[in-house]
This record gives sequence, C-alpha cells and structure tokens, in this order.
Amino acid sequence: MSSFLLASLLVLSFLCSLEKSLSFQTRREAIESNHDSQYSHLVYLSSLLPSPTCTSSTKDSKPKASLEVRHKHGPCSQLNQDKAEVPTHSDILSQDQKRVNQIHSRLYKKTGDDNSVKEELDSTTLPAKSGRLIGSGNYFVVVGIGSPKRDLSLIFDTGSDLTWTQCKPCAASCYKQQDPIFDPSKSTSYSNITCTSSVCTQLVSATGNQPACAKSSNACVYGIQYGDSSFSIGYFSQERLTVTATDIIDNFLFGCGQNNQGLFGGSAGLLGLGRHPISFVEQTSIKYKKIFAYCLPSTASNVGYLTFGRVADNYIKYTPLSTSSGGSSFYALDLLGIYVGGTKLSISSSTFSSGGTIIDSGTVITRLPPTAYSALRTEFQKGMSKYPKVSGLSILDTCYDFSSYKEITVPKISFLFGGGVTVDLAAPGELYVVSDKQVCLAFAPNGDDSDTTIFGNVQQKTLQVVYDAAGGKVGFGAGGCK
Ligand SMILES: *[C@@H]1O[C@H](CO)[C@@H](O)[C@H](O)[C@H]1NC(C)=O
Repeated sequence: MSSFLLASLLVLSFLCSLEKSLSFQTRREAIESNHDSQYSHLVYLSSLLPSPTCTSSTKDSKPKASLEVRHKHGPCSQLNQDKAEVPTHSDILSQDQKRVNQIHSRLYKKTGDDNSVKEELDSTTLPAKSGRLIGSGNYFVVVGIGSPKRDLSLIFDTGSDLTWTQCKPCAASCYKQQDPIFDPSKSTSYSNITCTSSVCTQLVSATGNQPACAKSSNACVYGIQYGDSSFSIGYFSQERLTVTATDIIDNFLFGCGQNNQGLFGGSAGLLGLGRHPISFVEQTSIKYKKIFAYCLPSTASNVGYLTFGRVADNYIKYTPLSTSSGGSSFYALDLLGIYVGGTKLSISSSTFSSGGTIIDSGTVITRLPPTAYSALRTEFQKGMSKYPKVSGLSILDTCYDFSSYKEITVPKISFLFGGGVTVDLAAPGELYVVSDKQVCLAFAPNGDDSDTTIFGNVQQKTLQVVYDAAGGKVGFGAGGCK
C-alpha cells in the first residue's frame, strides 16, 4: 500500500469521522367491500402487524436473470442478526430525511461537484452538501463476484451509480458485514484500473470526487461519501460478476473498498442502478438493454425480486422518462396530479413541474411539494375521520390508533403521471406502520414547492416497477409481488 493512499485513506477516514416496515399483506387486502372498493382499501388489522417468519413468494413465470429482493431488516434478512444494530423507526425516518436533503443538494448544483473536490479531499471538513446519497437504502440482492465466485449481499440503489464492496485486506477499515469480506488476491479474474485509464476519470462525475492515484502501483483510487458518517474508499477495479448461474459479466467495473464506514446494515456494499456510464445498468447495456424491473415486498417478511433485461410487460403502464429534471443519475418522471379516495386534489400541475419528480428505490417516504402534501393530508383525513388520531413520528404527522379495530378502510391514493398513466398505490404503499397503535400516512412535505418531488419505496410496494433507460420510460404494474 503506497503511503499516498494510506495518507488519503487516513485523511478521509478522519473527515468522515432500515428498516422494519411493517405493513399489509396484499393477499388479504383485496377483499371486496360493497360500495366503495373502487375508492378505498379494506385491510385486516392483523395483516398490518409483522409476521415473525419469512414467506418466500416466487413468481410463477420467473424471468431468467431474476434475483430475490429482501428487506435489510426483518425475518427474510440474514444481515442484521444483532438486534442492537437494528435502527428504530425514528432513526429510519431521520436517516431518510438526510438522504432527501442530499438528493436535493445534488440536483440543485449548477455544475458538477468537481469544482471543489481537491479542497474537499485536502481539507478537514466535508461540506455538508457534498457527497452522494446516504447509503442506507433498504433492499438488497445477492450477486457473485470473482473467480471462484463469492456471494455478496448488495443494497441496490437507483439513486447511485458506483457499485462497490468491502475488500480485504481492509487497509484502513471495514464495517461488520454478514458475508465473508471479498479477497481480491484469491480471485483469478480481478485487476486494478490504472490511473491513466479513461474509466478512472469517469469517477469524477460518478462519485463527485476526483480519483486519487496509488503511485507505486499506478492504481486508480475512488472515494465516495454518502453523508456525515458513511463512505467507501478503495481501488477502482475490474472483476467477473455473476448475476445468475447463466448470466456472467466479465470486466465489471466496481470499487474494492479498503476504508468503509457507515449505515450499510450488514450488507457487503452497494449495487448502483443509476444512469451514469459506470452504473450496472450502463455497463451491462449490451446484455440487458438497459432494462431492469423490481418488486418491493409488502412487508419485511416477504420476498420480492429484481430482474435484468426485458420482461413480459403487457400489463405494465409506461410513463416517459422526463428529460427536464433528474440530473445525470436519477430517473425523472412527470407527475401531473394525485387522487385520494377518487377525488383529484385541486392543485395546479405547475406545483409538481417546478421542482420535477424522480423515482428512487432508496428513499423511504414519498416527498411532495408542501402545497400538494397539505391537500393530500386534508383529503386523507376526511376519509379517516372515524379513526382516533395519535401523535406523529419524525417527518410523519398524520397517524392513527387502530388497536381496537379488526379491519380498517383506507382511501385509495393514485398518482397521475405523464402519458396519462394512473398508478394506484397498494394499501401497503400508503401507510407506515410503527405499531397497531401508531399507523401513519406515509408521505411528507418538502421544504418548498420548488424542491424535487421524490416517489419513494414505501409507495412502490408490491408494484412491478420497470425501468427502461434505452426506451426512455418507466412502467408500473399492480400486484407484482406479495
Ligand atoms: C492493486 O493495487 C494495490 C495497491 O497498490 C496492490 O496492493 C494490489 O496488489 C493490486 N492488485 C493487483 C491484482 O494488481
């Protein structure tokens, strides 16, 4: 290890000194109520509460390149065995707010992040607005890396681009992960990227940081930070990636992290599904045509999926990707309106267009312009007037006590996107369940109407979400998973 790298690792380590979503089971939710099933969901209260065991829900016609998606915390995950490390709901929500703040600061920077990178690397404080997303994410998949392959649990994130994993010898630091840490010296297909390689320079726009160079070995060193306490620094490398037994990608560019710290919840790193040239989606474009789809399960005790390549999509409704917002990494959509219980919120469509909208797999709670949020809350409260209200939690301010009910009726919420596409949220996509005594409307306002709207992962639950970056569209289908 060169002294330059060690120094940079030390400086950066000094600098940079979840989630139990309990929700509904859609199976039981689809009970017909006589009059208003078109405008409301009827939900058994028992289905709101967490199940202690994992129920695997395999799709009948499983596409070829399909991975199981599990929630980071809960009975389907092996990642966080240590109860003390499972975050509280209030931790999850405040972490979510940090991610949203970072998305906003990333989108509003006029030029790239690279202007002040040198200073950031050399100074002792990272600007709070710098860096990439908080690496919390929520959902992970298992992929194989190296020859022979080692299985790694990676959080997948449509809001970031660089894929990385912790690597031996963990020259500076590795956080605790469930899988054995990847050892590049034991793989015959591993190689370092050199400092002079053109892909090394692509790191600037992918990570927001100028790469360093390990002088002795001429190895390209990346650094990416996700917030106050999360970061990864190490060698930018190439390796064989095994997606499934039949889908193997050679020379996949990824970060081999030698100094890693943060809120990655026992996972081995991140799988970057953003739109930048070094994202997984772009690196595998010949094989998968820049198409992937996922379904996030209704509760942490169910399993969803992530598939790459074209899927059967006759029941998917597509909305065009927006070109006017979203920067170079995010998937931006045009949100035009919202319906609650069959009523269209009376807000002008410019409320949404001023800041634009992105869809993000890593943001938990959907963020709306304050004007839209207050209209949605008013309409939702009308439909919920018979239930006792309780205090809010963190960013959530509309919560109910359902502990004396066997079943509840919740107004349906639908999003109207460009291309005339209406997406009906499933019941698990509307509520954040802290306990049966505190179930909250799972939306929050942005600070300002001009801030970017974010379609978060609670709202995506049980929908099949198809990203087609080549076709310039994102699609939604109901009932993608349980
Ligand atoms: C990659 O670079 C590091 C840092 O110089 C070095 O320790 C390691 O042996 C290199 N690996 C390969 C396969 O060249």
